[in-house]
Amino acid sequence: MAQLTGQVALVTGGARGIGRGIAVALAAAGADIAIADVEQLASPVQQYGTTAVDGLTALQATVADIATLGRRAIAIQADVSKKADAQRMVEETVRQLGDLHILVCNAGVLSASSVEALTEEAWDLTFAVNVKGVFLSCQAAIPVMQSRGRGCIINTASIASKNGYPGIAHYCASKFAVVGFTNALAKELAASNIRVNAVCPGIVRTQMWEYLTDMRKQPGESKEHVWQQVIQAQIPLGRAQRPEDIGQLAVYLATAENVTGQAINVDGGIELH
Ligand SMILES: NC(=O)c1ccc[n+]([C@@H]2O[C@H](COP(=O)([O-])OP(=O)(O)OC[C@H]3O[C@@H](n4cnc5c(N)ncnc54)[C@H](O)[C@@H]3O)[C@@H](O)[C@H]2O)c1
Repeated sequence: MAQLTGQVALVTGGARGIGRGIAVALAAAGADIAIADVEQLASPVQQYGTTAVDGLTALQATVADIATLGRRAIAIQADVSKKADAQRMVEETVRQLGDLHILVCNAGVLSASSVEALTEEAWDLTFAVNVKGVFLSCQAAIPVMQSRGRGCIINTASIASKNGYPGIAHYCASKFAVVGFTNALAKELAASNIRVNAVCPGIVRTQMWEYLTDMRKQPGESKEHVWQQVIQAQIPLGRAQRPEDIGQLAVYLATAENVTGQAINVDGGIELH
């Protein structure tokens, strides 16, 4: 029997990218999956270019892929920065899949700007999704997990939770906050047998990094060249991480009965703490 057979996981921002990698890995390990995602990128400060795939289009494809693994999979349209949506996504998961064992708070946004040029709107959106979204999702799930006497929460933080990176100070601040929240919540919920950990991805070529690569490209430079430069300059192991690498850690955390309050890097050696 697979490790997570009989368990139900809810993954926010699971339509594409890292969230999709986590959802597929949890499904391959036996879990039934609910994925919550938004219809479209939230605001003009958060556009990843005209070729960007919106969350709901990707959501349908991911749910169909998970169903082919023989798992139950449902799609829920929900904006994690809205309390009513966060409550509804948990209720829908329990109503349609019967329970909630694993919550993965993965939805996140990024925009690049110097602090000097950063708009208040960009700051607010970053914190609304990356920090408040984690809080609201956890708050909605905790009563369900407490009533069952167990639970596992996994928050997607970042290497930008461990160190500052220029040009994304607001994003770094939001991801440091995710780790602080994770640490405190782990202690708060330990007596309820609910474990709370964070995954810290390094550099994964999702839509988020397609955007960052575009932002770094100089006139006449190819995007591929920029990407290879980033990998060679920043990653000791010399290769980018993949969504399935983060999925592998999520499966470990979902099964690691004595691990809580940790923020674990999957980054090819970029950050060593
Ligand atoms: N790509 C990387 O290298 C990297 C590194 C470290 C951390 N992260 C983090 O990993 C997570 C996933 O990022 P990704 O790289 O896969 O990016 P992505 O943009 O491909 O995926 C983000 C997903 O979150 C969804 N989303 C955005 N706002 C939402 C909201 N308000 N409510 C619900 N869903 C929402 C998007 O629709 C999308 O499906 C984020 O938290 C990001 O900060 C990414």
